[in-house]
Amino acid sequence: MGISDVAASGFGAGADDYERGRPSYPDDAVAWLVSRLGIDASSTVVDLAAGTGKLTRLLARTGAQLVAVEPVSAMREKLVDTCPSAAVVEGTAEAMGVPDRSADAVTVAQAFHWFDAEPALAEIARVLRPGGSLGIVFNERDVRVPWVAELSKLIRWDERERWRVPYTVEVDWAEVLAARGPQFEPADRYDTTYRQPMEVETLVARVLSTSYVAVLPADDRARLADRVRAVAEPLGPSFELPYVTVAYAARRR
Ligand SMILES: C[S@@+](CC[C@H](N)C(=O)[O-])C[C@H]1O[C@@H](n2cnc3c(N)ncnc32)[C@H](O)[C@@H]1O
Repeated sequence: MGISDVAASGFGAGADDYERGRPSYPDDAVAWLVSRLGIDASSTVVDLAAGTGKLTRLLARTGAQLVAVEPVSAMREKLVDTCPSAAVVEGTAEAMGVPDRSADAVTVAQAFHWFDAEPALAEIARVLRPGGSLGIVFNERDVRVPWVAELSKLIRWDERERWRVPYTVEVDWAEVLAARGPQFEPADRYDTTYRQPMEVETLVARVLSTSYVAVLPADDRARLADRVRAVAEPLGPSFELPYVTVAYAARRR
């Protein structure tokens, strides 16, 4: 099964902006995942939809053996540089290309919304060893902050259906797992916050790396970049982009 066209072309065109502009993950959320998923130096962890390795590189600190699965070649090229210790595999959530029962944990950062949930959960269950666990983490821009709400309006996140981005900000992934993943025990959830250090041009890169923005015509992208600069410039040369971060962990039955 392939990935959606907007993901394939958007993440392919935007890999540099992605690496430059996208956030990392908060230490406490990563520590919670590592603990709940039982990851240590003896573990094998599949980081699924690894992108440019934003989560993979944080998991590398545990000494675990890492397998980074990613369908888009431009993202995989970055992964090789950012996570030299990880084995990089071309694959999708629905067909990972990783052996049965080969992983102690599977992690999915900022990507589950792209998956076809049922086949993906069946595939994750196939790859996990008995007693293994799935971890999911998402950063969401904190739109309670007025300039962040303005930014979100600018990138027309609320019109994402138009771009066929299968995403709902308020999705409770524990409920998705309960409804679509009979292979898993009920998920635990951890809520925290994150502040991404920013400069105006990093924010521009962040916006331009959004999958459906990355595929817009160059003129539209340039106009949007100017509007983002206008939102960001009053914040000064350095500022922080606030996120709410939610992590989930669920053990395979
Ligand atoms: C927002 S990025 C997240 C990347 C990385 N995990 C991170 O935390 O920065 C979403 C990733 O999902 C990948 N993706 C999209 N559809 C996918 C699918 N069906 N199976 C696996 N990966 C997929 C994209 O190629 C992209 O790298």
